[in-house]
Amino acid sequence: MNQDQLKQAVAQAAIDYILPHLEQRSIIGVGTGSTANFFIDLLAKHKYDFAGAVASSEATAERLKKHGITVHNLNNVQELEFYIDGADECNKHLELIKGGGAALTREKIVAAVAKTFICIADESKKVDFLGGFPLPVEVIPMARSYVAREIVKLGGDPVYRTGVTTDNGNVILDIHNMQITDPRGLEDKINALVGVVCNGLFAHRPADILLLGTKAGVETLVR
Ligand code: A5P
Repeated sequence: MNQDQLKQAVAQAAIDYILPHLEQRSIIGVGTGSTANFFIDLLAKHKYDFAGAVASSEATAERLKKHGITVHNLNNVQELEFYIDGADECNKHLELIKGGGAALTREKIVAAVAKTFICIADESKKVDFLGGFPLPVEVIPMARSYVAREIVKLGGDPVYRTGVTTDNGNVILDIHNMQITDPRGLEDKINALVGVVCNGLFAHRPADILLLGTKAGVETLVR
């Protein structure tokens, strides 16, 4: 099985997991990225079984709409049973690094609202320690250099992701070479820097369920 087939398998596993719980009034949160895209394409077959979705990015909203799935404004949604999204890295505590696709802030908002966050990922994403994948930080443009200097003080090497503007009109700094031994502590420290909108550590709000695509099949890890 190649990586795309593993992503497809976990996307299908997520569909199988949520389908028995969906009601006509259900609205689900949908993430961003290639694994989430497989999920959206499979979800389309069931579009008459639920009321629609909240998207974590403009790209996801567009894909959902193309499939005829209603996209709701999160502010008008009372209850979000599930949030389904990929990750750039995950550990055994189901803490994650996200934001490789620059959608981290909206992803974190939708994950915060959802009752159950189901992370779907292929086995290459599972690590012992987070931080091999450069940690994305969304920053207000005028604060970029200041935040970068502060990140250096925290022990990381920030790299400006050139040519990328987030859906919120901000920029991304990717922190390289940061050994993340205390994900919650680091999430707090970075968020405390003035000018930071959000960082890609999902430690205070980890996934609840991880569906991990391996060559031997889909593993289910529950927090
Ligand atoms: C988007 O900003 C990210 O958080 C994605 O969820 C993450 O990059 C996973 O993407 P893939 O499914 O494409 O690997």
